[in-house]
Amino acid sequence: MSASNQNKDHNIAKMGFATRAIHAGTTSDQYGALVPPVYMTSTFTFDTVEQGAAMFEGEQIGHFYSRVSNPTVDILERRFAALERAESAIGFASGMGGIAATFWTLLSSGDEIIADKTLYGCTFALMEHGLTKFGITIKYVDLQNIEAFKSAISPDTKIVYFETPANPNMRLVDIAAICEISKAKGLVSIVDNTYSTPYLTRPIELGADLVVHSATKYLGGHGDLIAGLVAGPADLMLRIRVEGLKDMTGAVMAPLTAHQIMRGMKTLELRMDRHCSTAMMIAKELEAHPTVEQVFYPGLETSPDYALAQEQMGDFGGMIAFELKGGIEAGRTMMNGLNLVKRAVSLGDPDSLIQHPASMTHAAYTPEERARHGITDGLIRLSVGLETPDDILTDILVGLDAFGA
Ligand SMILES: Cc1ncc(COP(=O)(O)O)c(C=O)c1O
Repeated sequence: MSASNQNKDHNIAKMGFATRAIHAGTTSDQYGALVPPVYMTSTFTFDTVEQGAAMFEGEQIGHFYSRVSNPTVDILERRFAALERAESAIGFASGMGGIAATFWTLLSSGDEIIADKTLYGCTFALMEHGLTKFGITIKYVDLQNIEAFKSAISPDTKIVYFETPANPNMRLVDIAAICEISKAKGLVSIVDNTYSTPYLTRPIELGADLVVHSATKYLGGHGDLIAGLVAGPADLMLRIRVEGLKDMTGAVMAPLTAHQIMRGMKTLELRMDRHCSTAMMIAKELEAHPTVEQVFYPGLETSPDYALAQEQMGDFGGMIAFELKGGIEAGRTMMNGLNLVKRAVSLGDPDSLIQHPASMTHAAYTPEERARHGITDGLIRLSVGLETPDDILTDILVGLDAFGA
């Protein structure tokens, strides 16, 4: 990176979120292209053998192979780090790729993770069915209970890991409280910030060490890619790059995907504002509807997490969970009665999406595990999209009528 670009970046870092989302990390090419070129190349040539050797030794900075770094992905990583207020970031082939690479780098056999009791199904599967095969112990703790967290920490604990809001039941975890204890005990705290995005919550500013994301969701923002991003301190991120990314998973982000995410991130603030306002409107309507048993949305004053949400979220997000009075049978009828809102997993797209966690995204849990981990069979997960708000609401009301009929 040239000195002039560094200066530009330095100033951008002081600017607002939307400005950083559009400009941070930008470097200019020989043509002055506004949008960074997509460097579709596996490898990079060396001027001399000595230069190549210096790059491999880490004595000279530069790109030499796109499984390690790539100029297009590099711009996205700098931009994303500027959004999360992190020193450094890495792009991955998927959210799961980033989470796996982070764990493989930080953990050894005999180590222990403390994880919140509610996790995305594949993260749970990675821990419960993957890491345990290699001598790693997972303790699932209700991280809303600070005393339970403190007493679960043992000399073998290396990581505390949680989502907030959690997928699928929208429970919040107090980031500052957990990370303060984590720091005092020498643990690495990792927050999955997929639901909030750095626009609504910045865990690193609240004391977290690392932030992980499924960039497939709001960051990409258009439902047309699979990707992950991890951000944190430069020394830890360098370890994750050379161990977890380069050697242990190879879960590298493609340059074209980085380009798509940068395009998506330019409108992240605008999109999130709309996701949040429509979700709030729909959550209130659902709460008032006679067929609805309970709504889980941190922006509702009736939510047990309302006070914490006001502290650590800029707004309340685009995800809602709810249960109908008739349980899952009613939920199936309701979901099958929808026309505009699509029955699909994933979230954070312009299209509103609805799904049934117990049989879909969280099917990796056994029924007993779901019960222990706070994921009820009747729960429905709605990703509120960017369509005209009244159209989304009308579709949901028609679905509820189908069940009520
Ligand atoms: C909260 C959360 N974390 C991680 C992931 C995994 O991300 P990906 O599907 O991009 O691998 C998901 C996917 O749904 C998720 O919802």
